[in-house]
Amino acid sequence: MKFFIFLIVSYIIGSIPSALIVGKIQNIDVREHGSKNIGATNAYRVLGRKYGIIVFLMDMFKGMLPLIFASTFGIKDNYLVLIGFISVIGHTFSIFAKFKGGKGVATSFGMFIFLAPIQSLISIIIFIIIVYLSRYISLGSIISAIILPTLVLLLPVNKVISDKRLISVLSLLLGAYVIYKHKANIKRLINHNENKFNF
Ligand code: G3P
Repeated sequence: MKFFIFLIVSYIIGSIPSALIVGKIQNIDVREHGSKNIGATNAYRVLGRKYGIIVFLMDMFKGMLPLIFASTFGIKDNYLVLIGFISVIGHTFSIFAKFKGGKGVATSFGMFIFLAPIQSLISIIIFIIIVYLSRYISLGSIISAIILPTLVLLLPVNKVISDKRLISVLSLLLGAYVIYKHKANIKRLINHNENKFNF
């Protein structure tokens, strides 16, 4: 019962459309500007640095907080893995945004910081290097979506998870899904007209 309550709570927390809420402060709907994505990168692009960072933090915590709460209440192993993944599902299929949502990068990152901290640390370092060198956030996200699941297969995860099989499979699926959500970015990268990140 406790697990199902957390599953629902995690989906609702994941569904919170941070970029739309923060956009309301400036009366701007990010779905109508830039890449039109409800994510931190587009919020940064459209609303400015301060609001972009706020959206990133909110999206990241949406992936992390349900896990912190659930583990405090004694939930562990694959139940925790499912609670984590459902927050990303909420972010990408938000109940508050007509079942649309972002590309899942920041929320996945928040979830993996908890479930697979070593892998997250390595991935974020690689992400930062790629973005710094290329100035393409999307490229950093796509490469991280390949590296992180690979590292989940290779390295130990949070010790609250005793069996790595479910997290390994779901990480690979999530990585594939994040890449799929970047299909427009991939086209732009190939055509050399992807938006460069302005630091
Ligand atoms: O996390 C999303 C990022 O990789 C790309 O965002 O707005 O440029 O499509 P955007």
